[in-house]
Amino acid sequence: MSSLNIKGFSVLRLVTILTFAGLASLTIVYYVSSTPNNCEPKHYFGNYFGENRSFSEDKPVLLLWVWPENYRFDFSDCKKIYNIDNCQLTDDRSLTSNADAIFIFHKAISWDLTNLPPSPRPPFQRWIWFHVESPTNTQKIPGLENLFNLTLSYRHDADIPVRLKLKTRKKPDEEFVIPKKDKLVCWIVSNNAPSTGVGTRNEYYRELSKYIQVNMFGKAYSNFLGYDEYYPTLASCKFYLSFENSVHKDYITEKINGPLAAGTVPVVLGPPRKNYENFVPGDAFIHVNDFPDAKSLAEYLLQLDKDEEAYRRFFNWRKYLSPTPHLIQQNQEFILPICTACDHIARHREYKEAHDIYEWYFN
Ligand SMILES: *[C@@H]1O[C@H](CO)[C@@H](O)[C@H](O)[C@H]1NC(C)=O
Ligand SMILES: *[C@@H]1O[C@H](CO)[C@@H](O)[C@H](O)[C@H]1NC(C)=O
Repeated sequence: MSSLNIKGFSVLRLVTILTFAGLASLTIVYYVSSTPNNCEPKHYFGNYFGENRSFSEDKPVLLLWVWPENYRFDFSDCKKIYNIDNCQLTDDRSLTSNADAIFIFHKAISWDLTNLPPSPRPPFQRWIWFHVESPTNTQKIPGLENLFNLTLSYRHDADIPVRLKLKTRKKPDEEFVIPKKDKLVCWIVSNNAPSTGVGTRNEYYRELSKYIQVNMFGKAYSNFLGYDEYYPTLASCKFYLSFENSVHKDYITEKINGPLAAGTVPVVLGPPRKNYENFVPGDAFIHVNDFPDAKSLAEYLLQLDKDEEAYRRFFNWRKYLSPTPHLIQQNQEFILPICTACDHIARHREYKEAHDIYEWYFN
């Protein structure tokens, strides 16, 4: 493509060739998922037609409308941490009219919608609904139902699903050693506000703790762990209570990723086992619903404590799958969603309207 000699061609032929070349490279970009920058369309379109349209640039511009919770980070972290470098991230609102996509954090939208980007938006511009809380913890701000083009959420069926997935490996890992354990069951709780839906998990914990000792950590129990103590502490426990604050489809968070990454067996409370098994092998965790009550779960954990071989079987999945530790500092919470959105808009440029987002999200 780069050796295309434009002299001697009629304008019509040139346009035809450029159109085909452009379509071909766009198609390749769409399908080559692991190496996004290999075959990006070059500047032909933009320069030839004398305008800066979205697909004419090497990298689409993604404008972060507000910093979520004001947790700022360096955009170059997307490359450093996730090797994502295929869009141009910015928080500079002077680029609004030129942004290919605007990423709008739900919780920061004011009730009267006056702090949204200006409308009408340029015809090529897509707005992304950016929300990573569960429905229990979501305010239904009126007027957003049919405003967005793309949704970003933990939900598997969002346009841009955000999740750290277990990665397959072809060569089996025979090296994995279960970390040394000096505690049986652990739980880190930072949020205990009843309004966030934690009633179910607290009730289960109260019942469970009658039959087995649970080592409690975290803000809610004034036994605060420093960031550098998080993974080592998890690793030192045989079991970890991966209890979600509220129970919703696909709402399976870093609470299970932590113990998986640390080499600990998660005991999960959240959506049904089948839902977990969409993301994590069924023999990697224990589900509270596998037992008629907390007492029988406690008995099972105590029994596993004495049965080294049965406990070991919870790590068989490690041979062919590898977990990725998630970022644990509070101000790093939104790095993964923002980088994921960047990668998505670089690979997908299709027209899309997201209708009835609340209907989708709450039902
Ligand atoms: C097009 O983009 C280039 C490089 O990003 C910039 O220098 C130029 O001013 C832009 N032109 C218009 C018309 O926006
Ligand atoms: C984005 O969504 C809006 C509202 O649904 C729609 O009017 C617009 O045409 C869409 N644009 C693109 C580029 O998908």
